[in-house]
Amino acid sequence: MRRGELGDAFELSCPAKLNLLLQIQARRSDGYHELETLMVPVAIFDTLEFRSRSEERISLRCRWAAGLPARDAAPMLPEGPANLAWRAAERLREAAGVSAGAALQLTKRIPAAAGLGGASSDAAGVLLAANRAWGLHWPQARLAELAAELGSDVPFFLRRRPAIARGRGERLEELRLPRMHFVIVKPAEGLSTAEVYGRLSLSPMRSRRGAVALAADLAQGDAPRAARTMNNDLEPPARELSGAVEKTLEALQGTGMVARMSGSGTACFAWCRTAKEARRAARRLRAMRAGEVHAAASL
Ligand code: C5P
Repeated sequence: MRRGELGDAFELSCPAKLNLLLQIQARRSDGYHELETLMVPVAIFDTLEFRSRSEERISLRCRWAAGLPARDAAPMLPEGPANLAWRAAERLREAAGVSAGAALQLTKRIPAAAGLGGASSDAAGVLLAANRAWGLHWPQARLAELAAELGSDVPFFLRRRPAIARGRGERLEELRLPRMHFVIVKPAEGLSTAEVYGRLSLSPMRSRRGAVALAADLAQGDAPRAARTMNNDLEPPARELSGAVEKTLEALQGTGMVARMSGSGTACFAWCRTAKEARRAARRLRAMRAGEVHAAASL
C-alpha cells in the first residue's frame, strides 16, 4: 500500500485471479454450492484510491482505465450500492462504528463478468485500505468474516496469495507455488455467476484428482500432470449459456499446455511455459481479434 504523494489517501493495486481448478461438490441448503478450487492471483490490476473524510458518506467514482481494447463494449460501472466496493466500505463503517466517510476512486482494468474476480478484489482492497485509513486495526480474521459476507471470493483477495478455497470459497489454505505464466482472453460477452451456477447439473460424485493433487503437481514441476488435472465444473453450464466460451477455448487451444475457463467465465486462459511464450500467444490472439487479451503472471 502506498501513502505519500496522495496526502492522506491510500493507493492500492487490486489483482485479478484465475481458478486453475474448480470442482463443485454439492448444492447447499442456503442456495450456495460446496466447492474446492485452486486460485492464483494474477498481474492484471485495478487501482483503488481511498481517501478518508470527516463527512459520514461513501462516494465512489469508477472508470475504465484509458487505452483498454474493446472499450466501447465495456459494461457500465456502478458508482453506488450496486458496486461491491461501495458496499464493502459501508459495511465496514457500520460494523466498526466509524464516524467518518470516504471518497473512493476505482480505475478498472480487470474485465467484468469474466470470472476474474474484479469486483471481489476491489471490495477486499477497500477493506484493507479502510482498515488502515480509519485506524481500525482489525485483525485479518475479523476482516475475513466481513469479507465472506460480501462475497465468496472476497476473503481470498485479502491475502492475495495462491490458495485452495473450500466451503463457499471462504475457507482458505495458502499455498507456495512457483510463478506461472498465462495468456488470458475475455470475449466481449460476459456471464452472471448466479446464472451459471443455476444451469449447473451435478453429476454423481466420482473420485477424481482435486486441488491438493494439483498443488502437489505444480510444486513438483510436473507440468503435464498438472495440465491434465486442471478442470472447471462450471465450464459445461457456461458453454450452454454462451457460445463465446467455446470459441475462446478453441482460440486458446494449442497456445499453451492447457486451456481452461476461469471461475464462472467467460474469460479463459492458457497456461504457458514462459513469459515470452505468453506474450507471443497474446500477440497472435490479438491479431485474431479473439477478445480482450492479457499476458499475465501469477503473483
Ligand atoms: O458469493 P457471491 O456473491 O460471489 O456469489 C454469487 C452467486 O454465485 C451466488 O448468488 C450463488 O448463486 C453462486 N455461488 C454458489 N456457490 C458458491 C459461490 C457462488 O452457488 N460457492
